[in-house]
Amino acid sequence: MSDPSTTRRDVSADYARAVTSGTGCCGEPVPKGVVARIAGYTDEDFAVLPAEAVVNSFGCGNPLAFSMVQPGQVVLDLGSGAGIDLLLAAKRVGPAGRAIGVDMTDEMIAKANENVAAAGLANVEVRKGIIEDLPVADASVDWVISNCVINLSPEKARVFAEIARVLRPGGTMLVSDIVADDIPPEIAANRHLYSSCLAGAVSEQEYAAGLRAAGLVDVETVDRLVYDTAQLEMFIGSELKDDADGCCGGGGVDPAQACRWAEQLVGKVSSVKVRARKPEKAGA
Ligand SMILES: C[S@@+](CC[C@H](N)C(=O)[O-])C[C@H]1O[C@@H](n2cnc3c(N)ncnc32)[C@H](O)[C@@H]1O
Repeated sequence: MSDPSTTRRDVSADYARAVTSGTGCCGEPVPKGVVARIAGYTDEDFAVLPAEAVVNSFGCGNPLAFSMVQPGQVVLDLGSGAGIDLLLAAKRVGPAGRAIGVDMTDEMIAKANENVAAAGLANVEVRKGIIEDLPVADASVDWVISNCVINLSPEKARVFAEIARVLRPGGTMLVSDIVADDIPPEIAANRHLYSSCLAGAVSEQEYAAGLRAAGLVDVETVDRLVYDTAQLEMFIGSELKDDADGCCGGGGVDPAQACRWAEQLVGKVSSVKVRARKPEKAGA
């Protein structure tokens, strides 16, 4: 495993390529539009979003569907990407509230800002930064949401500590993310499968323990989708197919490997929605 800065740089490069590519050939971590198929947004959600926010969504769920965000509140979206959840949050909190996104990838921030302008929203802001060191004041947000991002962090304990720092007392975190058990070493070592949200995933137990260690309470998984073979092949095969087709300059990757890996991973990889709360009083 490379050092955390190198891992972040590689992940950012992959997402920069993904958001600037058309239908995508190389460097597309997850096929564009995968969210629309399996993530759980409604037609009503899609109807109010700019098409570019939907097409460039790379999440694994719909965290807001499980939240009770109210008008006037402040929502922080970690790894806000092209802005799909950020825009939905901004609509939920209304003009009296605020939606703040943080992302490290310039190209994603540019796309999010285009989408904010297209949606005509004035209560949204995207800040450049890393989720391990959030450019957000202490105890300043009501909600932390995130969609398929924390698995990509090489320093998850730092992310959990930052969530606990920025939430106001009594505030809630609701994230959609990938968790996994017993990832085979060859998958865990694959850089592209890291960017594809598989190789960096930790177990649900480790995830919950990390949140509790950061001081959050009432940690629970409120929804779970265990990926089947076809869904896993979609994640894995997106990279291998590109190489096998030769559009990344070859590389000799065996596409059958995608099927083998998917079969090995069945039952071990899930998309989860995890909720946690910051206590009203420290140590409560
Ligand atoms: C899988 S995409 C998800 C984007 C968005 N949440 C969505 O649902 O479409 C991951 C996003 O997180 C950003 N990201 C990954 N690791 C990050 C980190 N450590 N700090 C800040 N942003 C990060 C990437 O730049 C990318 O935009």
